[in-house]
Amino acid sequence: MRTDTPQAIYLKDYTPPAFLIETVDLDVAIETGHATVTAALACHRNPAAADPSAALVLTGEELKLETIRLDGRLLGQGEYALCDDRLLIHAELPESFTLTTVSTINPDGNTQLSGLYRSKDGYFTQCEAEGFRRITWFLDRPDVMAKYTVTIHADKAQFPVLLGNGNPVGAGDEEGGRHWAKWEDPFRKPSYLFAMVAAKLDMLEDWFVTKSGRKVRCAVYVEPGKLDQCGHAMAALKKSMKWDEDVFGLEMDLDHYMIVAVGDFNMGAMENKGLNIFNTKYVLARPDTATDIDFQNIDRVVAHEYFHNWTGNRVTCRDWFQLSLKEGLTVFRDQQFGMDMHSAGVTRIQEVRTLRTAQFPEDAGPMAHPIRPASYAEINNFYSATVYEKGAEVIRMIHTLIGKDAFRKGMDLYFARHDGQAVTCEDFVAAMQDASGLDLTQFKRWYNQAGTPKLVVRGAYDAATKRFTLDVEQLYPATAYEKRLEAEGKPVARGAYHLPLVLGLLDADGRELPLRLAGETSAAGTQRVLSVTEDRQSFVFEDIAAAPVPSLLRGFSAPVVLDYPYTAAELTHLMAHDSDAFCRWEAGQRLATDILTAGIAAYQAGDGDSLAWIPTTYADAIRALLGSAFAPGGDPALVAEALALPSEVVLIEATDGTVDPDAIHAARLALRRHLARELKGPLAAAYHELKVDAPYSPEAQQAGARALRNACLGYLAEIDDAESRALVMTQFDTADNMTDTMAALAAIAQFELAERDDALARFLDKWKDEALVVDKWLMVQSTARAADTGQRVRALLQHPAFDIKNPNKVYALIRAFCAANPKHFHAADGSGYAFAADAILQLDAMNPQVASRIARAFDRWRKFDTHRQSLARVQLARIQSQNGLSRDVAEVVGKALD
Ligand code: PHE
Ligand code: ZN
Repeated sequence: MRTDTPQAIYLKDYTPPAFLIETVDLDVAIETGHATVTAALACHRNPAAADPSAALVLTGEELKLETIRLDGRLLGQGEYALCDDRLLIHAELPESFTLTTVSTINPDGNTQLSGLYRSKDGYFTQCEAEGFRRITWFLDRPDVMAKYTVTIHADKAQFPVLLGNGNPVGAGDEEGGRHWAKWEDPFRKPSYLFAMVAAKLDMLEDWFVTKSGRKVRCAVYVEPGKLDQCGHAMAALKKSMKWDEDVFGLEMDLDHYMIVAVGDFNMGAMENKGLNIFNTKYVLARPDTATDIDFQNIDRVVAHEYFHNWTGNRVTCRDWFQLSLKEGLTVFRDQQFGMDMHSAGVTRIQEVRTLRTAQFPEDAGPMAHPIRPASYAEINNFYSATVYEKGAEVIRMIHTLIGKDAFRKGMDLYFARHDGQAVTCEDFVAAMQDASGLDLTQFKRWYNQAGTPKLVVRGAYDAATKRFTLDVEQLYPATAYEKRLEAEGKPVARGAYHLPLVLGLLDADGRELPLRLAGETSAAGTQRVLSVTEDRQSFVFEDIAAAPVPSLLRGFSAPVVLDYPYTAAELTHLMAHDSDAFCRWEAGQRLATDILTAGIAAYQAGDGDSLAWIPTTYADAIRALLGSAFAPGGDPALVAEALALPSEVVLIEATDGTVDPDAIHAARLALRRHLARELKGPLAAAYHELKVDAPYSPEAQQAGARALRNACLGYLAEIDDAESRALVMTQFDTADNMTDTMAALAAIAQFELAERDDALARFLDKWKDEALVVDKWLMVQSTARAADTGQRVRALLQHPAFDIKNPNKVYALIRAFCAANPKHFHAADGSGYAFAADAILQLDAMNPQVASRIARAFDRWRKFDTHRQSLARVQLARIQSQNGLSRDVAEVVGKALD
């Protein structure tokens, strides 16, 4: 029985590998019930190894070793040893040699979806982070880079398509109705980028001509019958290729670029060299099956994986502690792409929302870690919001501090220095520092320190001197991460961050003031990037005629919590006048949060329903906001973002002290209903005005109109009278695109109306053969606030439309319930916690990565009242005491209970 957190490994213990592998020759024969893998590894001692006589130790997981040869000679007993997941070579080794192993694996029984596994129409691989060892014995670490060839054999009728990384170099038929294909990747790569596919798939083909005239074949492979759903992904791929040339001068380097979609996949997608493997969710889309957000996500994920070809593949990570080297940078790049392709303001707002929903809670909970952790137990647990999203924020701060041109020079220098290498985050920062001349020594604290810093800013205006002074203080108390390392005797030094504070000052008419800092001879622009480096620091602005309203942290220039004592009037002023879209939105979110905080307290005091906590002017501010969408230059997409009140998850995080999920839910709902009643006329008018008549397109303008129209529908539905019900049902029955259908269905699912079951049944009946649409059907129910949601979700576990082996289904039903439906997950009777624990235990035996992701729902259990805490603790302890619990879940639960 396990009692605590599994053994950690430490960044400081990194040593270079004892051996290197030049080439890997794989032969994979897929048979019924098993696969035979022959691997010939051309190895030699690493001259840079710490111990020149170290033994050769290969890693393998769930492999049955058949034979092993050294330069062709069969090794006998005593010349090697198998111990746990290791294969130790005792035989004497020459300087260089070829080691050939033959192993049998069981892809059909591989429910973890790591290594080679079966999914409906064929066989697929997933090797990041440590899946290659589940295919063959290897030095399965990213600093071992080799050239690969792979020959795949399989039944020709069942698996007509055989794919590998790089270029096809041969193919043919074999007896027994089988065939083979050989692929060769001309680039050296780490094992985590290996991929192969043997499946029955349809293919969409297109061509991209690179800036230097290379003709690249682009291919998207999907389940038979789904070719009409791949056009958007293909277009996104070609846009990404063009963008990376235009913005970073980076060109595609292979003749083939393939994307294969698979329905069973733990993550979003994987950047295997020349052979990306994608979750179908990020490939398949048609106007009637996918929402605007789905289309947008496809753009972003396709771009992300494509951008990895340079940031990740050409230059990769030395070790997994450096994961953010490729992920933070590549997320930053896909975000920039998103800002260029869609609305920059909306894109940025959505990113900040993701950060606050997923990363801030992580940084404040038991799994807190810096973007480059110093230790971990299970690497799969560190494909985290911190490594990805905060990692991207850190890159963005470098971009802001040194500017776009220096950043581009830094990228060029990074590739000039490190192309073909496996490097560290320091190497990246060094390139940026050398290219820009800005000292980034202090900045590197972002790589080592965990936690969301708080920036306490106070403004003081002095009419006599016409000066406006901003006092800035940073707070960065130690997190669970630092406390653990301290207890382990491995303390982390902490100190003030270096961060860009982008700001402007607004006068009483909403005009931007010219900015002259003390010591400067003349004003320079109306927006400045202040470099904050001290624990406490002051910035003085001269020639300010009257007390201004500061517009702070423009574009969310640093991943911090800003504490500035804005009055409601100042926030309304910023909402109306700030030139920065993020700050306008942020002012609205703050105003709503302040009101909701009062509402939550009122509900706790038993006086919430009086609505006395809602200022009478609030509805007017929102009316003005709604109206601004129709004014010249108005942006419905931005207004739609601004109409959304902060989510319950964000409000939980914003709570100081004990969280009351029922009061949060009640206050938020009451405010929504209040706005709906007060603004019924304008909401209905906007709803009708925003109707899109043109044929569906996912492009930004149409999508923005739909977003605002559906936001209006959501509010109108809160009124819950015959009129609003008719509106919702009419939209549900007549919509010609999934965006509008889902908006209506979501409104229907909120209420326990007679229409609900009928609408859900009709929807399922229509879409039962489209797996991704069935996921939407599950999710709309698991995230509903209806009182019976808990029971319904439990019942859905037994529904034929659900499949616990499929990660997308688990995420739609179980994770969405646990992570995005706090009212029900934190039910006071403990039913949500018990449900989660049951699911985690059941999943852990099949797919620990997925189980572990569900377990993260318990991260914030200590923020709740003692009653809920005791209920959560019981479930966490029950999970922890399970025999044979995976390292993935053991780490999460162990840290939660620490
Ligand atoms: N590296 C992938 C990405 O960022 C994510 C991934 C990690 C996929 C691990 C599978 C397994 O796009
Ligand atoms: Zn990535």
